[in-house]
Amino acid sequence: MPSRVLEKPRPLAYHVVRGRRVAIRRACPGDRDEMIRFYNRLSAETLYNRFMSIIRYFDTYVDRLLSDSRTLVLVAEDVETGEIVGVAEAVGDEKGEAECGIAILESYQGAGLGTAMGQVFLREARKEGFKKLYAYMLASNLAPLKLARKFGARITGRHGDMLRAELVISGDDG
Ligand SMILES: CC(C)(COP(=O)(O)OP(=O)(O)OC[C@H]1O[C@@H](n2cnc3c(N)ncnc32)[C@H](O)[C@@H]1OP(=O)(O)O)[C@@H](O)C(=O)NCCC(=O)NCCS
Repeated sequence: MPSRVLEKPRPLAYHVVRGRRVAIRRACPGDRDEMIRFYNRLSAETLYNRFMSIIRYFDTYVDRLLSDSRTLVLVAEDVETGEIVGVAEAVGDEKGEAECGIAILESYQGAGLGTAMGQVFLREARKEGFKKLYAYMLASNLAPLKLARKFGARITGRHGDMLRAELVISGDDG
């Protein structure tokens, strides 16, 4: 039934950002429009830090995230307004390795939401059976670097201004 398809998955955790309660949960097809709105609201700086390129149209990107069976997507949703204020995703390959990315709306950054999403993300990635997570980030972008290190990731490469961080998931330590 259509209503069940649009039903939101249950929250996996909550985090309070400057007095605003935020639910962290799996994304679902019903999040499509709000996710596109989320990316369109991000500042040029946040978008560049996330994608390291200029992206103007997010419809195709979000559609792919929501339809690919090897993709893990978490959203952070402001409980009061229903707005999506953060998205973290892993796009897996046939070897069980997944490229990850995370972005949080500027007014919700710097208050522990990235850390809270990272904790849930790691748990869910382990459940999904991912063996390795990796992410690219600008060397000058300290927040994701700290976040990656906090979860035990190692910097394994440098390509110009970009660093590659990797985390091997052992599967039995969490
Ligand atoms: C990366 C990002 C998701 C982190 O989310 P967040 O909610 O700000 O993260 P937290 O508040 O949990 O902070 C995580 C760590 O980064 C640090 N940090 C946060 N903002 C920072 C900043 N502007 N400068 C330096 N350090 C920062 C925090 O102090 C914390 O480290 P600590 O625990 O050692 O103190 C967010 O900054 C963001 O969306 N950035 C733009 C997109 C991006 O860079 N994505 C990563 C590439 S995929």
